[in-house]
Amino acid sequence: MTAAPGGAPGGAPAIRLRPAQPGDLPACVGVWHAGLTEYGVRVGRPEMPPTFGPLLGLLGHLLATDPDGFWVAVADAPHPAGAMAAHDPASAEGPIVAFVSALRREHVWFLSMLFVQPAHQERGLGRRLLAQVLAGADDATHATCTDSAQPISNALYSRFGMVPRLPVLELVGRPERPVAGLPDGIRAVPFDLLRAGPTDGAGPRRLAAALDRLDRGTLGYAHPQDHAYLGAQGRLGYLYESGDGSVVGYGYASEVGRLGPIAVEDAILMGPVMGHLLGSVRPAGAFSAWIPGSASAAVATLLAAGLRLEDFPALVCWDRPFADFERYVPITLAVL
Ligand SMILES: CC(C)(COP(=O)(O)OP(=O)(O)OC[C@H]1O[C@@H](n2cnc3c(N)ncnc32)[C@H](O)[C@@H]1OP(=O)(O)O)[C@@H](O)C(=O)NCCC(=O)NCCS
Repeated sequence: MTAAPGGAPGGAPAIRLRPAQPGDLPACVGVWHAGLTEYGVRVGRPEMPPTFGPLLGLLGHLLATDPDGFWVAVADAPHPAGAMAAHDPASAEGPIVAFVSALRREHVWFLSMLFVQPAHQERGLGRRLLAQVLAGADDATHATCTDSAQPISNALYSRFGMVPRLPVLELVGRPERPVAGLPDGIRAVPFDLLRAGPTDGAGPRRLAAALDRLDRGTLGYAHPQDHAYLGAQGRLGYLYESGDGSVVGYGYASEVGRLGPIAVEDAILMGPVMGHLLGSVRPAGAFSAWIPGSASAAVATLLAAGLRLEDFPALVCWDRPFADFERYVPITLAVL
């Protein structure tokens, strides 16, 4: 399946859209890096280090869970004057110049990534890719995250109804001051303990049911496939239980320093859970987290611990409300 080629003004090679293949992912990483570097430098960011391993892993997860939402834009290879165009479009392919990845999680459609090579931007290619992956998702709630320093994406997504509504703050650093942890009567149970329980599978089943219930009650949808990805990445999860054994939340930390996702039944637990996660691991470097402004207790706890705000905020955009971000902290900007 190949979408119709776009126009090629001034004799430039035509650009075709096709579903992504695993072998395309390194080229997508290159487009991502070029797209972010070009405007990042313009708004005063330092040049991005070329650390691509984690991003390749993330793209692999996106392609594995949502292959229908992952498309690439490929320029036709120029062929010598007078030569016949190849019959097989794939054999005439030039470089990948843009890609898009969109996820479907229950009733929510989420634009995870859309990147266009700088030389091809603002010529309608981002819009073409977006229209391609939006097809058939009219019934869904639509959402994405953007960079507040990027007017093009914020304008483009707003034209599709996904308007920026909520800032997400990046907090980075090592704890320098103690902060309150869990209150009396709430205990943290490591996911690993539940997974390693009796061989009848009761522990993993209880964990999976609790995660689904908490996610539906806070984020608005369950996403077991993303929890599986977090486990494979080595993130360390905790289930929070009250004295009577009822589950009141979950949270993740990791040795590479990522904090989140977090989901809590009651917003009053957001600060204490963040305090617990900060004390649960000693990261190799700094901690880092993307915290929605409405999860104000998590922001306050991280600032009280000595973490610092970094960079411009990101923005969560949606057409219809779907989540309670006072009680939910996302995985990343690319997968809530
Ligand atoms: C953001 C990005 C994916 C958009 O793709 P693109 O091919 O450049 O965008 P398009 O040309 O299809 O569409 C841009 C739209 O924004 C509009 N636009 C651009 N700047 C605008 C502004 N300041 N105010 C209002 N509208 C603006 C254009 O008019 C166009 O709208 P239209 O299609 O309704 O005419 C691409 O520019 C990119 O990769 N940027 C760098 C990386 C990035 O920021 N990615 C998104 C991460 S949040």
